[in-house]
Amino acid sequence: MLVETLAQDTVTQFAIDVRLGLTKKGQKEIPSKYFYDEVGSALFEVITVLPEYGLFRADERLLRENAETIAAMLPPGRVVVAELGSGSGRKTSWMLEALATQRPTVYHPIEISRKALDQCSRELGQLRNVEIRPVQQPYLQGLLSVAASRGSDERLLVLFLGSTIGNFSWCAAERFLTEVRQALTAGDALLLSADLEKPPAQLLPAYDDPLGVTASFNLNVLARMNRELDADFDLSAFRHLARYHAAERRIEMHLVSTRPQSVAIPRAGCSVSFREGETIWTESSHKYRRGELMEIGRHAGFRALRQWLDGEWAFAQTLFVAE
Ligand code: AVI
Repeated sequence: MLVETLAQDTVTQFAIDVRLGLTKKGQKEIPSKYFYDEVGSALFEVITVLPEYGLFRADERLLRENAETIAAMLPPGRVVVAELGSGSGRKTSWMLEALATQRPTVYHPIEISRKALDQCSRELGQLRNVEIRPVQQPYLQGLLSVAASRGSDERLLVLFLGSTIGNFSWCAAERFLTEVRQALTAGDALLLSADLEKPPAQLLPAYDDPLGVTASFNLNVLARMNRELDADFDLSAFRHLARYHAAERRIEMHLVSTRPQSVAIPRAGCSVSFREGETIWTESSHKYRRGELMEIGRHAGFRALRQWLDGEWAFAQTLFVAE
């Protein structure tokens, strides 16, 4: 019942956001969170193993190499881990294993998608000494429920991995970390992963791979509107575009209309016209500088304890403590 209600709410919010984003003046937009339906999440899993997409492996390498050090840097006693976005569980298992050899560990993956939570529970269910308690809620709401339910002797470790922070605008990233901090108590920790600035020649293939997986991932948002909102997008009349915006230090993904066309989206209560070459902006992936991460953490109310960098792909993990 709860699951059905949530699914219905998601469709309704999707319809509202589509209508807002495609009928507003100027640049058409769809929030990137709508990539992740069942098809989009499966395509993202494929992206993580593409040779051109170095982010995921860098994040995983850093966790594999440093999980024990991170676990040893946390205060003694019981630790409750809350992960914003459950991911596939592959990376997180390094962190949980390192913690669980030292102390009983509770893990709360926080995620809106039931399927992703089920998959994560399956992947990590075998870990000894780790109790998994999935939370099917948006990130901040979920974090607040986890924080409210932990015991007075338990410390929280929040994981925000995969460089998802890069999908927020610069301002929204700091706002979001501030809200995370407000859900925590002084002494709680945050491990934040972020992709770093690198040459566009290395970045662009990560977002426009030769197999076309990222193109399919992007186009799937049109297919999703066809499936869920009865829209009539002709996918062959749009193409994937990834470009680097140097001043903003971000990769932007767009869907380009290859001809003038009009599309009906009945369940969003609108129809939308496109000029040839007009785009829908579907995602931004901001690329950080090392010092900026410490800085936004500090503005949000954290102190950076340590930062680790990957040797193969410019990528950082920063461990913060809430002040
Ligand atoms: C989830 N997020 C950090 C990915 C990124 O790199 O911005 C999503 C993605 N978009 C295209 N490829 C992967």
